Amino acid sequence: MASADIAVVGLAVMGRNLALNIAEKGFTVAIHNRSAGRIAEAMDAAGPLKERLVACDTLEGLVAELKPPRQIIVMVQAGAPVDETIALLLPLLAEGDTVIDAGNANFHDTVRRAADLTARGFSFLGIGVSGGEEGARHGPSIMAGGTRESWGRAEPVLTAIAARFNGEPCAAYVGPGGAGHFVKTIHNGIEYADMQMIAEIYGLMRHGLGLEASAIADVFADWRRGPLDSYLVEITADVLRARDADTGGPLVDVIVDSAGQKGTGRWSVMEALDLGVPVSAIAAAVDARSTSAALDLRRTISARFASRPQSLSGTALDGDRDVLEKALIAGKILAYAQGFAAMQAASAEHGWEVPLATVARIWRAGCIIRSAFLDRIAAAYDRDSRIPTILLDPYLADLLADCLPAMRTVLATAVTHGHPVPALGAALGHFDSLARERSTADLIQGQRDYFGAHGFQRIDKPGVHHGRWQG
Ligand code: 6PG
Repeated sequence: MASADIAVVGLAVMGRNLALNIAEKGFTVAIHNRSAGRIAEAMDAAGPLKERLVACDTLEGLVAELKPPRQIIVMVQAGAPVDETIALLLPLLAEGDTVIDAGNANFHDTVRRAADLTARGFSFLGIGVSGGEEGARHGPSIMAGGTRESWGRAEPVLTAIAARFNGEPCAAYVGPGGAGHFVKTIHNGIEYADMQMIAEIYGLMRHGLGLEASAIADVFADWRRGPLDSYLVEITADVLRARDADTGGPLVDVIVDSAGQKGTGRWSVMEALDLGVPVSAIAAAVDARSTSAALDLRRTISARFASRPQSLSGTALDGDRDVLEKALIAGKILAYAQGFAAMQAASAEHGWEVPLATVARIWRAGCIIRSAFLDRIAAAYDRDSRIPTILLDPYLADLLADCLPAMRTVLATAVTHGHPVPALGAALGHFDSLARERSTADLIQGQRDYFGAHGFQRIDKPGVHHGRWQG
């Protein structure tokens, strides 16, 4: 007799924690993993929740345990393993059953899988799940894409397990097809930019002002009382405060300064480029990770140019930390504006009608970029769902205007003293370009016409024109 409400296939850290979270909310969960060891581990980790888990050695067994219409969450490594798992599952399923891909899928794969499964009479949801291990276990943020019917069936479980902000679940339907995974990709792009900007400000304090890691931890902890209050700022303070058991010094000092990346940040940039939406802060953050990984080259260049970070003592950055705080606030507003613009453009391009206020709302808790600041973005889209950029929202515009002078001071000081600030710099560069009524693209058009006869428009008469460039 089928007894399980839902299944989870793939019991690595995220899958196991998701299954335990679902069981804790009162649902019976059938679980399966290709290697049986992980099934045993999940059962061991379950404690009293064990009675709501149904361990299944085979996919056939798992499907037999599910109440129809069946819902199966696939939490395996993104890419080919998802296709392989779906291929094994489909012959066992019946029309109307739903496969839910909860991994960090590329949204193009989700679009393909959704079309394929729908054509065969199954339903498919591609859900972005954010919050890491802790989130999966105790409340992630969930961005669901697919048909409304599939969402309707999965909603009771997915909203029950999601994080809550002021009692509201941080799980929502954000559009058809690949919308959920696209939104998650941009979430990660913003995550990259946010982390990079925090790291740049950290660098100025550490390498420029010579502050101890623990003193910088105190600065970040203090900023949690203002607009920067967020999970990433919170963990930054924790990371900087941690001591290494071997050396007794800050743990951060013994970590190799080469950042990894699994692809979602890069995808954000690639998609935005295709859409023609500038996401320079995200791109700079992705580039900064790549540069960080070029350890040998950095060592060689640093030696060749004898470059040492110059002291920032006695500069405008020495003393009151407000100027650094404001620079980070401005950078954050600009980076989020870029990410939301990319979602707005993708939504229009694919006809998804992504509810941007809802996206901001479900990011207020559970996910990695959770922060009080997202409440302001939700309010901006609530006031005007078609606002072309959050930079035009009265509250955010005033906050940005208040913080911009500090951002300029920080960037000017950093640049003249040789401190890298690529993401903050890219964000301000984009803003300054946007804030110019007349740009320098008149010259670009002249150059294009000169070498390629591409033509240009004139400001004073209609039509396409050419210059007589060479006498
Ligand atoms: C989350 C995270 C999570 C993971 C990303 C980024 O929302 O829970 O974004 O999905 O951290 O995959 O990882 P990389 O930094 O390795 O690209």
